[in-house]
Amino acid sequence: MAIIASNFKTNHTRKSTALFVNEVNNYLKSNNIKNEVYVFPTATSLDLFDTVPTFSIGVQNAYATANGSFTGEIGTTQLDEFEIKTILIGHSERRHILGESQNKIAKKYEFYKELGYKIIYCIGEPLEVKNQGLIKTLEYIYEQFDGIDTNYENLILAYEPVWAIGTGVTATNEDIENIHNSIKEKIKKPLLYGGSVKVENVREICQIPNVDGALIGTASWKTEDFIQILENTK
Ligand code: G3H
Repeated sequence: MAIIASNFKTNHTRKSTALFVNEVNNYLKSNNIKNEVYVFPTATSLDLFDTVPTFSIGVQNAYATANGSFTGEIGTTQLDEFEIKTILIGHSERRHILGESQNKIAKKYEFYKELGYKIIYCIGEPLEVKNQGLIKTLEYIYEQFDGIDTNYENLILAYEPVWAIGTGVTATNEDIENIHNSIKEKIKKPLLYGGSVKVENVREICQIPNVDGALIGTASWKTEDFIQILENTK
């Protein structure tokens, strides 16, 4: 059984999300899925998944607060309205594009851990680090665990090499296996792979030793592809 997580990032409107949900529900009427499925829609569409109880719906980001004066952020008061108890933390786009430091990420992690949220925690190296070899890559990845309690029971990890995200370039099976083996030796938690996972390669990737599933962006945004991913990982 694979864990399949779809991250919409800043894509889809409420209208297109409603269509997505409708088609997924039609599929689920006549198909049983054994996979554990997570979807991270945009914050503006969280409620639209209320009719898909078999999926766990999470938020792509939130601030480490219940409420307060944090312009542009949402906290647990707002998440509670949608009964959201799952959050993505440490995603490469938040680290590298939105400038979240390890310190901030660790504080956010601690806050949501204390509240018992399911956390999908992302790690992964940029290309210049990958090019320095496996040892440097692992050193870089382990620094992304600074301040993170990896014994937390509701933790899922996602290894996402930065150079593979949204580029169409998937890491090789060998690279994925090497990194996953090393991480799993230290941290015994479910570990997903993310980075240009596609309809065509999702099954193979999920069968690599120590890969427990996939965190998928681009290839999960079209409903027919998302459904095909569920089919391919049944
Ligand atoms: O959260 C998802 C990942 O960043 C992977 O994105 O499948 O578009 O490469 P991608």
